[in-house]
Amino acid sequence: MQESAGGEDPWKEIVPPRSASSRPDEIEAPGETEILRLRRRIDHLERIERAHAETKEMLENSAEMNRKLEETLKKARKEIQALRDELIRLTTPPSSYAVVLSSNIPPSGAMTLRGVPAEPSVDVVVAGRKMRVMADKGVDPEDLRPGDTVLLNEAFNVVGRAPEERMGEIMTLKEILSPDRLLVTGEGGVDRVTLLSPGLAGRELSAGDPLLIDLRSGFALERVPKSEVGQVVIEEIPDVTFEEIGGLDEELEMVRDAVELPVLHPELYARFRLSPPKGVLLYGPPGCGKTLIAKAVANSIGRRMAERGGDARSYFLHVKGPELLNKYVGESERQIREVFSRAREKAREGYPVIVFFDEMDSLFRTRGSGVSSDMESTIVPQFLAEIDGVERLQNVIVIGASNRQDLIDPAILRPGRLDVKIRIDRPDRKKAQAIFRRYLTGDLPLAPSLLKGSSSPEEAVLTLIDRVSEEMYAETPENRFLEVTYAGGEKEVLYFKDFSSGAMIAGIVSRAKQTAIKRSLSASGEDGLTREDFSRAVRREFQENEDLPNTTNPDDWARISGRKDERIASVKTLASREARERPVETLPVGHYL
Ligand SMILES: Nc1ncnc2c1ncn2[C@@H]1O[C@H](COP(=O)(O)OP(=O)(O)O)[C@@H](O)[C@H]1O
Ligand SMILES: [Mg+2]
Repeated sequence: MQESAGGEDPWKEIVPPRSASSRPDEIEAPGETEILRLRRRIDHLERIERAHAETKEMLENSAEMNRKLEETLKKARKEIQALRDELIRLTTPPSSYAVVLSSNIPPSGAMTLRGVPAEPSVDVVVAGRKMRVMADKGVDPEDLRPGDTVLLNEAFNVVGRAPEERMGEIMTLKEILSPDRLLVTGEGGVDRVTLLSPGLAGRELSAGDPLLIDLRSGFALERVPKSEVGQVVIEEIPDVTFEEIGGLDEELEMVRDAVELPVLHPELYARFRLSPPKGVLLYGPPGCGKTLIAKAVANSIGRRMAERGGDARSYFLHVKGPELLNKYVGESERQIREVFSRAREKAREGYPVIVFFDEMDSLFRTRGSGVSSDMESTIVPQFLAEIDGVERLQNVIVIGASNRQDLIDPAILRPGRLDVKIRIDRPDRKKAQAIFRRYLTGDLPLAPSLLKGSSSPEEAVLTLIDRVSEEMYAETPENRFLEVTYAGGEKEVLYFKDFSSGAMIAGIVSRAKQTAIKRSLSASGEDGLTREDFSRAVRREFQENEDLPNTTNPDDWARISGRKDERIASVKTLASREARERPVETLPVGHYL
């Protein structure tokens, strides 16, 4: 169309202007000019055609562009909408959670002071603050019950319900004051009055139940499942055998007589009309095998019962004192009840049951000693009630173990209760050798230097044990451990051997074996256990026990040296280079820890 844009009319050229001089009847033969003109016209038409095609294509293109534009616009609109939604979402003021105390429905026709009809309102607690608020249109205050959790908007109107609070503090139900009010006790013995939440209403509650309390709203939300006795009690038969215990033959026999005989041969006891002991207390310094013995006895009874065939078996309830004590107020008593009720249940089914209270002094302290938070004032009676109740039942035997039997309430140890008391002492040198023999045998990898001069590995091991125990028990200057000054002014030196225990011997053997293993890994030096491994292990064990005076107590040392009644004024560690003087608090026996 450039042509038309040029202002020239192409048709003008097609129809030639007739000159005034030309005649109409005179037909002119097409001349050169005519042909030229026609050709130009054809050219022109072709150009128009091309222009038309171009225009068409452009039109099509722009339609396509239009469509694309439209699409982009739609997408942009969507994105804007999403952004706007996000903006609204992010700038929404937070809603508060509140707990309903009551809803106030005015009687119909009631007016406010300002003369407008009274509206229903709701009393709620928001973050510990009590408020009277209005309900949004969608919420009917009449539907709200005390204890319901609701949402408030920024104007503090109730706008909807929310899920109930699930966190809080655990307290123990002490008393039900009225159908909707409870007296509960928290940690530290602080009492509180709480309200019953709808979730708890109608549930059977009894004193001692652990409840979840939302302290801010003051509602008891739910009764939490009681921690199962299973957590403190292991019913499996332990895998410790008598063969693993060294140097305690006499003690073992006493325990077996007291526990195994009546359990395995109740008919004999019946014939001789001898009532079996109800309980045995194993006491003595730590690490000397009390727990080990109790487990071995349980294992032995278990095996002997299993040998009888059929469904004969035995039960072992292992109660770890400190674990049971870590529970909430009232929980320890409940768990003791539960332990015994489980024991009775099994015994009633005809199975012998051993109830083992390990570290029993942590639970049954002398009442009124003020050592712990006086929990013993309720735990001890609970235990006594249970153990006295055992009388009616055969087949239940209680074994207690303690490092500090002097702390145990005397009532527990009276005749008819844990009246068989067996002292498990520190091993002397001979017993120490017996313990070593449980851990060291001829089939262990022994170094050639150790075997030299012995006719058999067994003999080599015995020689080794003899030497090592000699080293441990020698009253040499390097084995001096403590100097004790008694109140009377007397001084006494305590040696390594005075603190010896099965646990220490087990420790020495482990250390020696570990050294040998490391040497074996680095492939340097001799392969197998050497004499030197043990000497080093003894030294190391000795040095690490330097801390002993901090952890044990003077009373224990006094007993070790056979001067139980005399007070200790001070102790001095001799094991380390710089000997330190340590004053000792002189409190009446059983009143420190
Ligand atoms: N007489 C012993 N024979 C063998 N190992 C012992 C002996 N006494 C203690 N041990 C070792 O010491 C560890 C602690 O002994 P344990 O019976 O728990 O002491 P506690 O008297 O404090 O209950 C045991 O697991 C065992 O490895
Ligand atoms: Mg123990």
